[in-house]
Amino acid sequence: MEELVYLERVDSTNTWMKERAAGLADGAAVYSACQTAGRGRLGRVWENAAGKALYFSYLCRRPLVQPAAFPLVSSLWTAQAVREIFGAECTIKWPNDLLLNGKKLVGILCESLAGADGACYISGIGVNLAQSREDFSRAQLPYATSLALEGAADAQEKLEALARRMQELFWQQTDRFAQAGLAPFLEEYRAACVNIGRPVVFEGGRGVAEDVDAEGRLVVRTAQGVQQVFTGEVSVRGIYGAV
Ligand code: BTN
Repeated sequence: MEELVYLERVDSTNTWMKERAAGLADGAAVYSACQTAGRGRLGRVWENAAGKALYFSYLCRRPLVQPAAFPLVSSLWTAQAVREIFGAECTIKWPNDLLLNGKKLVGILCESLAGADGACYISGIGVNLAQSREDFSRAQLPYATSLALEGAADAQEKLEALARRMQELFWQQTDRFAQAGLAPFLEEYRAACVNIGRPVVFEGGRGVAEDVDAEGRLVVRTAQGVQQVFTGEVSVRGIYGAV
């Protein structure tokens, strides 16, 4: 197993990894419980909950046949680690949020870097472990939850165990993903995806999500016909207060 680095405090585990990627091996990972400049998807900030969350980044330094699907499989492998360590069954909001009891438990930001020996990929994962309802209210995150809030005992004590299991699963599964892409994971992803069968609103339209296709795009039936959504925010009726 490759290196797993623990940092007491870091600006962002993704930024840390990006800055050092050239000197780290495939499969290296870094984690912390305190991130002072966390970044989210679509240019957002990822709130720091010092001592109450896991901030984790994994480095993949292999050619991927389908890099666009890395966020999707990252969510599946993280869901498996959460299930094994906490016995909690997450669902996935396309493309890669993990939900527990309908609220956001995990956010994922995948980034790529062009290196001298080809592209490399970073999967950055924030897992809410022990925040209270007040913590989320203060941070204006009414649709977030933590493992502790959903009944897990000693969630913060499992920081290292969770980081270790995530690194192992990413390491074990990346080989198959690197060569075969999303295909071997698609059925499992579809089964976990909450969008399918629900009304959704995306940038540029609305309709009912019917499927996730082989490219990892959300397939939406709109009044104008079927559209494939491949980026941006998608709200799902009944999730995060969407109506
Ligand atoms: C989202 O917007 O939902 C994605 C959030 C991703 C946050 C994680 S925390 C670890 C890693 N480091 C970062 O700065 N961001 C990711």
